[in-house]
Amino acid sequence: MSGARSLPASLATLAQAMRATTLRELFAADSHRATNLSHDLACGGTELFIDFSKQAITTAVLDTLIDEAQTRGVFARRDAMLAGEPINRTENRAVTHVAMRATDDRTAPARLRSEVQAGESALRDFIAGVPTSITHVVNLGIGGSDLGPALAYDAISAMQSPLRTVRFAANIDPLDLDRALDGLDPAHTLVVVCSKSFGTSETLANARRATDWLRQGGVGDVKQHLVAVTAQPERVASSGLPIGTVLTMPESVGGRYSLASAVGVSVALAFGLPVFDAVRAGMRDVDLHFATAPARENVALLFGLVAWWNTAVLGHPTTAVLPYSRALAMLPGYLAQLVMESNGKWVDERGEVLDSSSAIVWGAVGTNAQHAVFQALHQGHQVVPCDFIAHSRALGTSPADHDALIANMIAQSQALAFGVTADEVGGDAQLRTHRATPGNRPSTTLLLAQLTPGAVGALVALYEHSTFVQGAMWGLNSFDQWGVELGKRLAGDIAAALSTGGTANATHDASTTQLVAMHRRWREA
Ligand code: F6P
Repeated sequence: MSGARSLPASLATLAQAMRATTLRELFAADSHRATNLSHDLACGGTELFIDFSKQAITTAVLDTLIDEAQTRGVFARRDAMLAGEPINRTENRAVTHVAMRATDDRTAPARLRSEVQAGESALRDFIAGVPTSITHVVNLGIGGSDLGPALAYDAISAMQSPLRTVRFAANIDPLDLDRALDGLDPAHTLVVVCSKSFGTSETLANARRATDWLRQGGVGDVKQHLVAVTAQPERVASSGLPIGTVLTMPESVGGRYSLASAVGVSVALAFGLPVFDAVRAGMRDVDLHFATAPARENVALLFGLVAWWNTAVLGHPTTAVLPYSRALAMLPGYLAQLVMESNGKWVDERGEVLDSSSAIVWGAVGTNAQHAVFQALHQGHQVVPCDFIAHSRALGTSPADHDALIANMIAQSQALAFGVTADEVGGDAQLRTHRATPGNRPSTTLLLAQLTPGAVGALVALYEHSTFVQGAMWGLNSFDQWGVELGKRLAGDIAAALSTGGTANATHDASTTQLVAMHRRWREA
């Protein structure tokens, strides 16, 4: 496997060598392996230790991947992104999520920073002006307009009590908004309509329902309770929604990269501006590292290269994100969008068909996942590279139980890497092969000293840059998402067919026509 650009012989040879050896052998051959393949990064007011030693790599593999990154123009593309060049070629725009949170020239030139951060003072003024009588915030948004703020809110709630409670409704499933609004007092609720495009049907439908809820709840000046976050302010005006304040974000900040923009307003309303700023400072630490650290020590670069190696070279089709932290339970879902919507592409940026792209990203919180899906990780036929993520300082009230949590995480990475042979298992001869596990299953462990708001930002930025590096290695555009459009268009057609009196579109296939008819019959029964 290689992508549109063919894999160099050096990488193919190394891949063959890695397939012919085991992690047991690699550790036995090099007593410094663990330290040599681990890095420490100060970020987000804490430290991140990242251990690649249980990956199927050697320093020679990393050096060759760095050479290949040079050949494929990854560094030039990084620098072009940071400079504000229009690297999102299919949409002819710059990619400015780093500039959005940048404060110095090393990650974004001053001109770009002031252009991209034009909405910042309005955001700060708005947050400062929201009255204390607003005790609840409801964020209406989907995808990048939901997952980032929801992740940050959930994670930071584990560290400190919010000043305001935030609820999130994303889905057009009416139950989602019903539940978000349940028990809230409209007089004390602010609704944030978060949509970069301000054209997403789910969000607009929920915004209309929430507006009705405010009106029916006796709110006089509904405008005071509705704020929009968007890159398309003129669409807010034409939407007919009684929005009192419009906070803007730049078109060049991708939805799934937008947490540091006004999209994070509900996080700032929940915990205050200093905490939101701390999230952005944590991102900035990693941005600066990605922009300036030498390749061999550049954790963000290496993280992306190892992920690309696993998918594009070793051919592992999925990867699991396994936070051993209740506070980070939303991270797998967040990263699934970040990585898959960015890099799940069938062609490179020149339109040439790739033979691999994004891994399927999935995951669940540990230890829960151990008792549900780890069986297949240990003994199933597909090798699933894993990211284990944890923090040493406990959250919650029982540090002893936190130690048990961390013990489980380390044990799982150990079991996956080294397994146990039938001979080592011993006991009943009939059961030995059943109880043996093959091992040699790769993982990276990311251990934070402490989970801080900044560390949440740092993790987000680390994965953003890993996603960028992988996309650049494939030569694809990580910043568009054309693949989602067809389904949206078809849903519009089908919704018309489902509407009362509507008829199935004659061009629909037989299965679609049958399902439409079935639903209408049952709905009306
Ligand atoms: O349909 C996909 C998508 O455009 C995502 O890229 C985006 O995060 C989400 O929908 C929401 O989009 P918007 O913020 O424009 O409502």
